[in-house]
Amino acid sequence: MTGHGDGGGPAWPGAGTSGSATTEPAGELVTVSPGALRGRVRVPGDKSVSHRALLLAALSEGRSRISGLSDGDDVRRTALAVVACGARIEAGEVGPPGDGDRPTGRVALPGLSVEVTGGRDGLSEPVQPLDVGNSGTGIRLLAGWLAAFPWLAVLHGDRYLAARPMDRVIEPLRRMGARLDARGDGRFPPLVVRGGALRGIDYPLPVPSAQVKAAVLLAGLAGDGPTTVREPAPLRAHTEELLGRFGASVTTEGDGAVVTVRPGALRPTDLVVPGDPSHAAFWIVAGCVVPGSDVTVEGVYVGRARAGFIDVLRRMGAAVEVTMVDDTTADVRACHAPLSATRVAGAEVAGLIDEIPVLAVAAAFARGVTTFADAAELRVKETDRVATTAALLRGFGVDVEARPDGLVVSGGRPLRGGPVTSAGDHRIAMAGAVAALGATGPSTVRGWEAVATSYPGFLADLAALQA
Ligand code: S3P
Repeated sequence: MTGHGDGGGPAWPGAGTSGSATTEPAGELVTVSPGALRGRVRVPGDKSVSHRALLLAALSEGRSRISGLSDGDDVRRTALAVVACGARIEAGEVGPPGDGDRPTGRVALPGLSVEVTGGRDGLSEPVQPLDVGNSGTGIRLLAGWLAAFPWLAVLHGDRYLAARPMDRVIEPLRRMGARLDARGDGRFPPLVVRGGALRGIDYPLPVPSAQVKAAVLLAGLAGDGPTTVREPAPLRAHTEELLGRFGASVTTEGDGAVVTVRPGALRPTDLVVPGDPSHAAFWIVAGCVVPGSDVTVEGVYVGRARAGFIDVLRRMGAAVEVTMVDDTTADVRACHAPLSATRVAGAEVAGLIDEIPVLAVAAAFARGVTTFADAAELRVKETDRVATTAALLRGFGVDVEARPDGLVVSGGRPLRGGPVTSAGDHRIAMAGAVAALGATGPSTVRGWEAVATSYPGFLADLAALQA
């Protein structure tokens, strides 16, 4: 299957299924019965890595091969966006074990194998608005990527995305010389990007956001000099790691807190996307809280600022074993054990922000009062995750307080099975399924279709682990 520019029709499995309505919370109802999980599982490729790999491959002069790519709708949208800008993507079959640059062990990689043919000279202005669906990462990274071209491009998405702040990328990209406009006092999508000749900047991030870091570094590839980003707290390092893999001149200082990229061309490369720790977290927490469970998630990325949830679970007394496979990838095993409360706050929050809904589920099973603080960023995720996590836990009868910057969860009493809703948010739906596995009776999760944005195979993996 092949897609090229605006004419050929994008090549992507599932391309053409209509998009933005996939997260209406009134939709699909899933019933989850309580029960232990046992066995081994491989989760889809890391979503953050997948977006970045596609964007960098599209800039590289030649053909890159990426396997283990996330098969979720968010990443598919980024692929369609670069195809709309003239990159060529050929989608292959799932790679066999051992495909790519690292042996993959017992089972085939889930996710997609693609070949991306890119190069700046072959890219062209997209003639239609680019629809990123539900993806905050997609829109913010694409804003930086597009700023480097002398084009006019429009980025938009679903109604959840329309409520998410874009000023955090608009401001630094304007400083670099791009012109950006957005709805609602210049804060919300749709976003209009007029790019072109850019200045390199030195940018201390005002919000601890890896998406903003990535947007600035991607734009910096086309700056007139070096671009430096300074982190206020440790953030995921995928952009700088992948920039290095694609041959960019990128350096870090201060334990990775200061990243500098110099303008220049990229060269194609072959990549295997490691398993997404944010997906693994659902199975790991289920393994920890459901009596009789013993689950191993294979090939999980545990590099900078992604494995913080494991530290939190261990602090709670969880039996989690990490066996490194290479420098940044591990097999992670979780067995049931009694948990006790903890406090999650300060600099560690940025490294586990996406895992807080499922860590709040762990807290509901833990004896004592767990506090999540300094996490106001939760309020501007796919949904207001302070509110939607609190509502989810209350659906299971848990005593939870929502605070401006986090949650207080009183745990240790049995969870009753409940009707709960995703609220249109993939991570809330999957956190609900995990809570349901440890509840006293069956539960329903409404709005399950939201899960397609990141982990379409979740229920199949659940069935395999329950068998
Ligand atoms: C991401 C960064 C985080 C995270 C998101 C993915 C990324 O967002 O919540 O799911 O790929 O850079 P922020 O940058 O807003 O913290």
